[in-house]
Amino acid sequence: MHILNSLDKAPGGNGDRKNLDTCSIVIFGASGDLTARKLIPALYHLFKENQMPATFRVVGFARREKTDAVWRQELRTALEQFSRTHPVDNAVWAAFADNIFYCVGDLTDDAAYSKLEARLSAFGDPALRENLLFYLAISPSQFGEVVEQVHRSQLLKREGPGWQRIVVEKPFGHDLASAHKLNHELTRYANESQVFRIDHYLGKETVQNILMFRFSNSIFERLWTRESVDHIQITVSEKIGVGERGGYYEEAGALRDMVQNHMLQVLSLIAMEPPVSLEAESVRDEKVKLLKSIRPLTSEDVARQIVRGQYFAGAVGGQPRPGYRQETKVKPDSNVETFAALKLFIDNWRWSGVPFYLRTGKNLPMSASEVRIQFRPTPNVLFAAQCGTQLDANALTLRLQPNEGISLHFNGKVPGMSLGMRPVRMHFSYDSEFGAYTPEAYERLLLEAIAGDATLFIRHDEVETAWKIADSIRTGWEGKPLTNREFYAAGTWGPIAADDLLATLGHTWHEPQVIK
Ligand code: BG6
Repeated sequence: MHILNSLDKAPGGNGDRKNLDTCSIVIFGASGDLTARKLIPALYHLFKENQMPATFRVVGFARREKTDAVWRQELRTALEQFSRTHPVDNAVWAAFADNIFYCVGDLTDDAAYSKLEARLSAFGDPALRENLLFYLAISPSQFGEVVEQVHRSQLLKREGPGWQRIVVEKPFGHDLASAHKLNHELTRYANESQVFRIDHYLGKETVQNILMFRFSNSIFERLWTRESVDHIQITVSEKIGVGERGGYYEEAGALRDMVQNHMLQVLSLIAMEPPVSLEAESVRDEKVKLLKSIRPLTSEDVARQIVRGQYFAGAVGGQPRPGYRQETKVKPDSNVETFAALKLFIDNWRWSGVPFYLRTGKNLPMSASEVRIQFRPTPNVLFAAQCGTQLDANALTLRLQPNEGISLHFNGKVPGMSLGMRPVRMHFSYDSEFGAYTPEAYERLLLEAIAGDATLFIRHDEVETAWKIADSIRTGWEGKPLTNREFYAAGTWGPIAADDLLATLGHTWHEPQVIK
């Protein structure tokens, strides 16, 4: 199973290649941003680190006419910009680029798929024609067409020979109904086991470490219940605004862009029950179970438990930022949320009564993702006279990015004659412990898809359950314009309403720490 295999690839590990099958990776949408920014750099690094199959091909499929040589050159130029290591290694690139090919064609044209088929057959090795990873870096509205076409041209089969897999990107639909439709379109010609839905958060080392941390450390696992945990906070804050993505963002908003996928994924890993094994289905069964135990939200609950926000003009790190309504392709009276904060309850045995606070937003003071497990306070009978009635409660922070690490916060006596106390922390940093080896999420995800391990991908019922939660929130917001308490200045930690949300239970948000 990959979580354990991935240990081999950690620094100090032996870097062994998994026994990966010879295969071709066919990228639909080869001229797009994702291919140049993420997919090719990820494949290049996998190749460089000897993680790719011994024999493989990458075939780009797109409409623009160009030769293999021109496409290789374009990718080489993009790699200069998007590679996570510099300089790009010329010899490695040359050897890698020999495996890259371009196939011109329109997604709706039958003949183009015959050409693709011919191209794959011409590689000579039957495995390069039969073991196929189709990466759909295209609009979801085109998924159905492509899947049908590759099926018709005999490139996609439910039962061998070889294996064929389809990798799809987010957004996977924009609500439950559209996600359901997409699931149906994908599984008309493929089995669910052939579909790999990406949430790039699951490719992050620190997100994968959540399960390892929880289930391999008895001191923490036994505290992971309502008896010890007071509440949990998950923050994914971003310094960037919506920038050039105004058009997309107007349709998405923070709820669809971040909460439905990344935030609920992190929540499910933090809160799920131990799986019966590390097999993909066992892990995903538990994640779905967890999502299903989130208490459903009525419109009244949404008004009480969910806060949205939108930034107005301000400054982030001293840099002036326009308001959301002034961004390109954004309506001047838009009510789209650039911030969302949620108070959720998980109605199961372990978490009954424990609030889970989630928040995410654009144009916040810093970019940081972290999970804070706040433990119950001790009875404050001994130190109240010296330290006041409020002793800091213990907390465990899992810093997902940047400055990846884990901190344990507790109280310590200030040295000296008095009984003064203050919070102190023990900190584990990935960098200091393991060195600065941080593979990009896409490297791990592509590798897992090539290996056929679906653990880090979202199952159909998981994506639909998450949409059900997002839809109930959207329904609660429908027809309600933003109020004054829901606006925040760019560069602040979100609207006042988000603070009110926690204050009702006497809680406050903990800002991610600046870790140097
Ligand atoms: C994407 C969202 O899925 O995740 C973006 O569409 C967001 O709006 C990004 O900025 C955040 O990802 P990361 O890896 O930078 O935390």
